Amino acid sequence: MQKSAASKETQWWEKGVIYQIYPRSFSDSNADGIGDLEGVIRKLDYLNDGSEQSLGIDAIWLNPIFPSPMADFGYDISDYCNIHPFFGDLDVFGRLVAAAHQRNIRVILDFVPNHTSDLHAWFVESRSGRKNPKRDWYIWRDAKSDGSLPNNWGSAFGGPAWEWDAVSAQYYLHTFLKEQPDLNWRNPQVKKAMLDVLRFWLERGVDGFRMDVVGMILKDPELRDNPELKNDLDPASPDGPYYRQLHVHDQDLEEVHELIRDFRILLDEYPERCGIGEVWYELPRWIKYYGSRGDELHLPFNFRLMKAPWNARAIRESVDEMERTLPDFAWPNYVLNNHDSPRLVSRVGDEQARVAAMLLLTLRGTPTLYCGEELGMENGVISQDQMQDPQGFRLGAQYNRDLSRTPMQWTDGPNAGFSSGQPWLPVTPSYQIKNVATEDRDPTSMLNLYRSLIRLRKQRTALQSGSYTSVAVESSDCFVFERSQNGEQYLIALNFSYKHQTLKIPGLMEGKLLLSTYLDNFEVFGKNTLDLRANEGVIIEIKHNYVTRQDG
Ligand code: NOJ
Ligand code: CA
Repeated sequence: MQKSAASKETQWWEKGVIYQIYPRSFSDSNADGIGDLEGVIRKLDYLNDGSEQSLGIDAIWLNPIFPSPMADFGYDISDYCNIHPFFGDLDVFGRLVAAAHQRNIRVILDFVPNHTSDLHAWFVESRSGRKNPKRDWYIWRDAKSDGSLPNNWGSAFGGPAWEWDAVSAQYYLHTFLKEQPDLNWRNPQVKKAMLDVLRFWLERGVDGFRMDVVGMILKDPELRDNPELKNDLDPASPDGPYYRQLHVHDQDLEEVHELIRDFRILLDEYPERCGIGEVWYELPRWIKYYGSRGDELHLPFNFRLMKAPWNARAIRESVDEMERTLPDFAWPNYVLNNHDSPRLVSRVGDEQARVAAMLLLTLRGTPTLYCGEELGMENGVISQDQMQDPQGFRLGAQYNRDLSRTPMQWTDGPNAGFSSGQPWLPVTPSYQIKNVATEDRDPTSMLNLYRSLIRLRKQRTALQSGSYTSVAVESSDCFVFERSQNGEQYLIALNFSYKHQTLKIPGLMEGKLLLSTYLDNFEVFGKNTLDLRANEGVIIEIKHNYVTRQDG
């Protein structure tokens, strides 16, 4: 069935909540210290058992679960059409899809098109000699006549993007680790093989893909040097050529959109399949990944809230700009945490993380949660000898992604209930307070806040698909907006400060408090005023005579 981009019907990826599972750290069923698919199956009821007590999410996205030497924890794939034995096998995967679908949970897989593992059979063949038929499946180049590298491109993990192969006496390109050679998408056989990979999983009932660094898959055919950044160098950015260049020739080329349109055509051959992309560019470049007619990705991930300073003004500007810029066919989305970035709660604190939860789950746009976010899980504490992440080793401990990859905290018992073996990363010290079992019993816990927010979003369609209007208020510490649809109207007021705030909002006495981040029923109304306690967010149902003051 072909879905038109302009379809008015609300799709599951528009109204639902996506939950990112880092499978290695979610739940270990066989005591080897590594999470697995059987573990995920056991926790599906926690995610959504159909009752109001469970978290109530609508889709899971699994980070890569395919055979891999794990140089980059699964983003170095050696077989796209199988499951790593750590995680299970194709049968367990089939059971997971069936069990998820039974609970109305969609399953999204990670698709890693830019690079394979250097141990993938394709690369093993490719590097075996210049005459090999798969030679051109990767990007090989001679050294320059003076023996230097083919161009100035850098690896995102530090150092040059070129690795010398002594046997065939050429360099190959790797935008990430040297164990992750870049595929040559200009070769039609590569494109066909990779589209077959998508088809393989679509046939197994997968509901969508999150496409890893999808804007990077095409490179300048002449491999021209990138211009060097001069004055705009960010002093906080890591070392290495990648971080000192403008990426005009090694990624985000115009032609990449043709390829993404082809991914979309394939997805659209199947009903209700969704394409999500990891796309980091600035807004004008980023927005192109929806396609000029909504014919590319359904959701290029929007990471802007992760990068914005945590204050009402910056967050509001980011949202307003998004709302202003998106064309009608493009559905927004928001992300606060993922497996590549430190946890938001460690940046903004426990109190503001509750405000963040309300923001994420009331904005117009699909929310993606990262496992443990709903518990207020903090950054791990990782000593040098416990470090696992190749990026941490190469760019420095401040870029160590292990911080957000520590085991999911299920109980206050040994290893936080994640595993009865030795977990691959240490459990974060606050697990005795921040865990599912303890938070389940506390009616005002972070977990119960996420559950309440998701439940409310489900019950009130205006919170899913209603329009968004920014509401002007005097206090620069508060962000207030309205969601409305078919006569349903909600006011969301978020206090980003540690101070009590009184906001003037005409006509508000007709409102009804639906939810406070404090999870109590504190009286908030004056005649035309709204009182917010320190770090409080509220959702108010508005009655007819409320006057919206739009922000010019
Ligand atoms: C982005 C992924 O999210 C990250 O974890 C990975 O290291 C790189 N892409 C390379 O695949
Ligand atoms: Ca295991």
